[in-house]
Amino acid sequence: MRKTTTPKTDALLDVRGLRVSFGTTQGLVRAVNDVSLTLNRGEVLVLIGESGSGKSVTALTVLGAMPSNTRQVAGEVWFQGQNLLSLSPTAMRHIRGNRIAMVPQDPMIAFDPVYPIGVQIAEAIRAHQPLSRREAHKRAVALLDQVGLPNAARRASHFPHQLSGGMAQRALIAMALACGPDILIADEPTTALDVTVQAQILELLMHLKETMGLAVLFITHDMGVAAQIADRVAVMYAGRIVEQADVDTLFYRPQHPYTWGLLQSTLRLDAPADVEIQAIAGMPPNPVSLPPGCTFHPRCPFVKKICHEAYPTLEVVAPNHIAACHLSVQERKEFNRG
Ligand SMILES: Nc1ncnc2c1ncn2[C@@H]1O[C@H](COP(=O)(O)OP(=O)(O)O)[C@@H](O)[C@H]1O
Ligand SMILES: [Mg+2]
Repeated sequence: MRKTTTPKTDALLDVRGLRVSFGTTQGLVRAVNDVSLTLNRGEVLVLIGESGSGKSVTALTVLGAMPSNTRQVAGEVWFQGQNLLSLSPTAMRHIRGNRIAMVPQDPMIAFDPVYPIGVQIAEAIRAHQPLSRREAHKRAVALLDQVGLPNAARRASHFPHQLSGGMAQRALIAMALACGPDILIADEPTTALDVTVQAQILELLMHLKETMGLAVLFITHDMGVAAQIADRVAVMYAGRIVEQADVDTLFYRPQHPYTWGLLQSTLRLDAPADVEIQAIAGMPPNPVSLPPGCTFHPRCPFVKKICHEAYPTLEVVAPNHIAACHLSVQERKEFNRG
């Protein structure tokens, strides 16, 4: 078995050995503990895990938007030949929005309630490009049209509260696209939406990926959402990636007990109505005092002696498929009877 800490070099985004910790009155919060991932042009990488696993902190660090109590940031974030972690705040501000844009979770917080959405998108455009107000407004309307807002010209004059949740989320995506970024980071952008609208937003993102060659880092805790949108999936637990594979492999040949748990707790539309949905027993660990050995061991139904002692190496289990677990191939076959 080969170690997989050397990511592909042709990736658009290449995160290597990222560690992030925060200072708190309770002690040092180890939010991200050695995360490596790559994102290629024209693909959707889904980062999935329960709440608190370090997904948002990973995204914010890539964007250079660390909170003020950040104590330590280690590792590298390579983008277009530069390590973003070594850039000055000014240089990073240029990348953020221009080259890497974020779609936040809640449109009602992201938009300013007192300006029409068209004005806000036009201002976002003008912050990065030397356009007149009129030109920027035209471009804002074109973007709103591109993200599927009906009557875009009229909608541009609407205030955020006049839009439905789905429409507001489309407008937010238009704002993120304002400067033609290479990478879109979407942090649980559909969590607040009902399932039908959520599916429409996922379709829009996939359409943008295909037509604009966007690379999308999509964050969710929902395996159903991952199944709809992902090309590849990285499963995160306690600040680490525990398994990563293309979407079909992850769903049909998952190798990590945590992934098995996530899949079992997902509502399957084809499951008989009387099949009980199993959640993963227990809680994610406190990032101030992570358990020794494999951080998942206190919740793992298949825990062995070694799991208490050493963190398992992230190993190649099949082509383009990595997992960090002490179980042998035979044991995995035996236990993963689903
Ligand atoms: N500024 C902060 N100060 C202290 N702890 C933080 C801070 N931001 C996030 N955390 C903690 O880091 C861990 C990872 O958080 P986060 O990345 O937001 O998780 P999620 O996977 O739900 O997005 C959590 O335990 C969270 O409480
Ligand atoms: Mg989050």
